[in-house]
Amino acid sequence: MKNKNIFNESGIIITIVLISIPIIIASIILIIKAYNLLKKYVRSKNAEKFNAYLKALDFDDIQKLEKRKKELAFSLSNTELAGEAIPTDAKGLIKNITEVENIRFIEQKKKGQPRPYVEPDLTKLILWYLGCATFWLLFGTSIGEYLGIKFVAPDVDHYSWLSFGRLRPVHTNAVFWGWASLAMMGLAYYVIPRVSNAPIASIKIGYRSLILINASVVIGSICLMAGLNNSGGEYREYVWPVMALFGIGIFISLLNFLKTIANRTTKEIYVSNWYIISAMMFLLVIAIVAYWPTWQNGLGETIVQGYYMHQGVGMWFMLFNLGLMYYFLPQQLNKPIYSYSLGILAFWAQILFYTLIGTHHFIFSAIPWWLQTIAIVGSVGMIIPVVAGTTNFMMTFKGSWHKLSGSYTLPFYLIGIVFYFTGSLQGTAEAFRFTNLVWHFTDFTVAHSHLTMYGIICFMLWGFIYTIVPRLTGKEPPQLIVGAHFWLALIGLLFYTFPLMYGSTLRGLMWMEGKPFIDSVALMAPYWLWRAIGGTLMWLSHLLFAYNFYVMIRNKKEIEIPTSPADILKAKQELDEQLTN
Ligand code: HEM
Ligand code: HEM
Repeated sequence: MKNKNIFNESGIIITIVLISIPIIIASIILIIKAYNLLKKYVRSKNAEKFNAYLKALDFDDIQKLEKRKKELAFSLSNTELAGEAIPTDAKGLIKNITEVENIRFIEQKKKGQPRPYVEPDLTKLILWYLGCATFWLLFGTSIGEYLGIKFVAPDVDHYSWLSFGRLRPVHTNAVFWGWASLAMMGLAYYVIPRVSNAPIASIKIGYRSLILINASVVIGSICLMAGLNNSGGEYREYVWPVMALFGIGIFISLLNFLKTIANRTTKEIYVSNWYIISAMMFLLVIAIVAYWPTWQNGLGETIVQGYYMHQGVGMWFMLFNLGLMYYFLPQQLNKPIYSYSLGILAFWAQILFYTLIGTHHFIFSAIPWWLQTIAIVGSVGMIIPVVAGTTNFMMTFKGSWHKLSGSYTLPFYLIGIVFYFTGSLQGTAEAFRFTNLVWHFTDFTVAHSHLTMYGIICFMLWGFIYTIVPRLTGKEPPQLIVGAHFWLALIGLLFYTFPLMYGSTLRGLMWMEGKPFIDSVALMAPYWLWRAIGGTLMWLSHLLFAYNFYVMIRNKKEIEIPTSPADILKAKQELDEQLTN
């Protein structure tokens, strides 16, 4: 096909605009830094001039200046009224005065909010979910890291169990069902009882669900490495009995959540619960549709695959995380969500459009043209919930931007929201026919997957975990390492995705010009190296996250001063018991 000017294509224009957003932000930071540098330079020049002037002064002038200096330097000693006595703090009212031992060049971030009372049994359950999720993040992304290395060094091993084709689904399924899903479920076990103002219906069911989900990822990963899979369909490579374990795990927790919401003592069902419950219902529907035996052949199977893939990411991960964001963002900013109605509009618009867009994975395939067109129109329609959601979050932030620099959790929230906007709209741009012609089958899709699943979902989950674990355990993570986690993950993601997007565009254009395939493989080599470098930074950041998680939950004996009424009563009871024994 003869190339047109690609810069006239709306999909390309949208993508360039989206890519420009982080570049513009980075440029603004660069300009501010350069301006400060220039200011410093001018100041030093002025200082030199002033120095020369001082040197040229005669004795009398110097005397006058010395006298004036003394006058200006005079100040009260501040002990005129208080005297010289050393201050003491017998009532223990002053905190954080041992600053000599603290690192001073890092700003002290705000600590998590005071610990609300959460039943100890529920706390334990939530920490189990989050701990298992952290394990799967390390496992899944270590596999991802190894896959990235294989692009650079394809002959690194020759074991069938470690072959690319087997390990790739181990990576995707472990991060999907092990990491992100378990983290989301653990957070939901915190959010649902709180916004319902009722205790969780059953903690036992929570554990059963945890065991089933973990079992499915363990067995599923072993089966995949052994070569036992559900054939082709992406993200449904686990054989059906394994996926059934996962589905039952979600189903029993869904019933548990529904019972809790039914027992609520609030009048309204808070918007978070709408999102979370719907996400769980959607997951069960799509899993049954995807595994149903009667449409596992031919074009029907392809249509179902598209439906499953995009409902998986959109109606499970995205819907669930939006629900969590509607709880956590207002909490962290200590103000209500900007607009409850906008939240509901985004909810219904998401359900309307997201369910229509599956076929955009198979543009120019043998699937009916009209069905492809519906998917493209639906992909454009997705602008409505994405813009509504982003506006709602940004307007909630409005007036609280200053809190960003003083908090170690909010930057994670913000990056999640920014990628929600840019990553999703990048998807809209990818769905257009021309852009899909260039990018489909290239690594552009892999870049999009990570900008969304990593940029949106992982960043949001990390923000939420750093928010609630200190509230549950009373232990804060080391702030320097949280910062290192944030920056390594963000910079790693940019290194991973931007070169892939650039290289893939060149590759797609090469294919359209009819150049030999192998030339396009050679072209991609440096971009794959960048992916491996970015992936390594991301992987390192996960080690830091795991360490922070460990610090937040480790059982170190610390003297804790109870703050909530329930904790005070418990402490009093324990003290009474000790005194009577
Ligand atoms: C406005 C919303 C979105 C639209 C219109 C959209 C569009 C697309 C399109 C057109 C593709 C297929 C590209 C191709 O194969 O040629 C795709 C792939 C993908 N998208 Fe999105 N996307 C959106 C949001 C998201 C979100 C929020 C996530 C994750 C949370 C996500 C995750 C993925 C993944 C993982 C793939 C790769 C699927 C595969 O393996 O082929 N997308 N998206
Ligand atoms: C250290 C971090 C990670 C590295 C190095 C990494 C690396 C990789 C590699 C090399 C692939 C195969 C790409 C291909 O076939 O061309 C891949 C695929 C994928 N990864 Fe990751 N990954 C990481 C983290 C994650 C995380 C945390 C998630 C989700 C939560 C994720 C989701 C995916 C998805 C959805 C695909 C399939 C992409 C597609 O078909 O479009 N990855 N990853």
